[in-house]
Amino acid sequence: MLRPEKPYVNFSMCSRNNRSQPHGNPGNNCVNVPESLKPSNRDEERLLRELDADRLPQHIAIIMDGNGRWAKKRHLPRVTGHRAGVQSARNVIETCARLNISALTLYAFSMENWRRPKAEIDFLMRLLREYLRKELPVIHRNNIRLLVIGRTDQLPDAVRADIERASELTAGNTGMKLAVALNYGGRAELVDAFNRILDCLRKNGPANAAVDEDMISQNLYTAGLPDPDLLIRTSGEMRVSNFLLWQIAYAEIYVTETLWPDFTRAQLYEALLDFQKRERRYGGLKESRQRITV
Ligand code: FPP
Repeated sequence: MLRPEKPYVNFSMCSRNNRSQPHGNPGNNCVNVPESLKPSNRDEERLLRELDADRLPQHIAIIMDGNGRWAKKRHLPRVTGHRAGVQSARNVIETCARLNISALTLYAFSMENWRRPKAEIDFLMRLLREYLRKELPVIHRNNIRLLVIGRTDQLPDAVRADIERASELTAGNTGMKLAVALNYGGRAELVDAFNRILDCLRKNGPANAAVDEDMISQNLYTAGLPDPDLLIRTSGEMRVSNFLLWQIAYAEIYVTETLWPDFTRAQLYEALLDFQKRERRYGGLKESRQRITV
């Protein structure tokens, strides 16, 4: 996947004087696409040209759904879909890092996923370990910091050991933060945060201490990461499935019918372009509509 000998380059596709165009359409002046993002087909090329490198999301969160259906359509066992899903994850990680996205969070295993057959769970855990073993050196050389979020203490020992090794090795890296959600649940994360806050207040807080939003954010597993501004979900389900419940308060949601193993670099660009067309108001009003006439 990543080319270690070619460290990530600053992503500059358009000259500054093109930035005023609507929706970040950079016109014909798009040059300087890093070698590593050279489009592999016309679709990618067209989409890349339209992207505004100055208005990319800081943090992308992805619900990678549809591995099972992808396999079923091909009359293959479900686990084949998961294996194919790893390749999509690799592509997305590489592309986001090369686009200089600050953080990418991938929903790899939810707390609800323990309800699946044991053989599938075992396969997923093995796949994750295999991924870490193969990709860790490349991730590290590319300055990516790997974080695992979720109730990791409930994971099998061998998985925990691999996670610890990966987290320690990449702890000092300053590039993209890659958070893999494992044994993750959004409500459990909030419960854990509240209990940590209570613990701390009981020990050190004044009797009249109160909780505020910052305190909650700082006690989530994602403390230190910006909130996602784009949440992508593949395979068409219109649900957030207990993922980053607090953090996605203002995220733009992009749902595609594409099954996760079919999610390509071009489709990531489509999602980014869609994001750049949205008008983000955070509960306020668009500037031009702010005047109140009486
Ligand atoms: C959902 O498909 C996907 C998962 C349960 C997560 C597995 C993800 C991967 C294997 C990607 C690899 C990730 C990393 C970070 C290496 P599903 O089984 O729910 O599909 P279905 O809804 O079609 O049954």
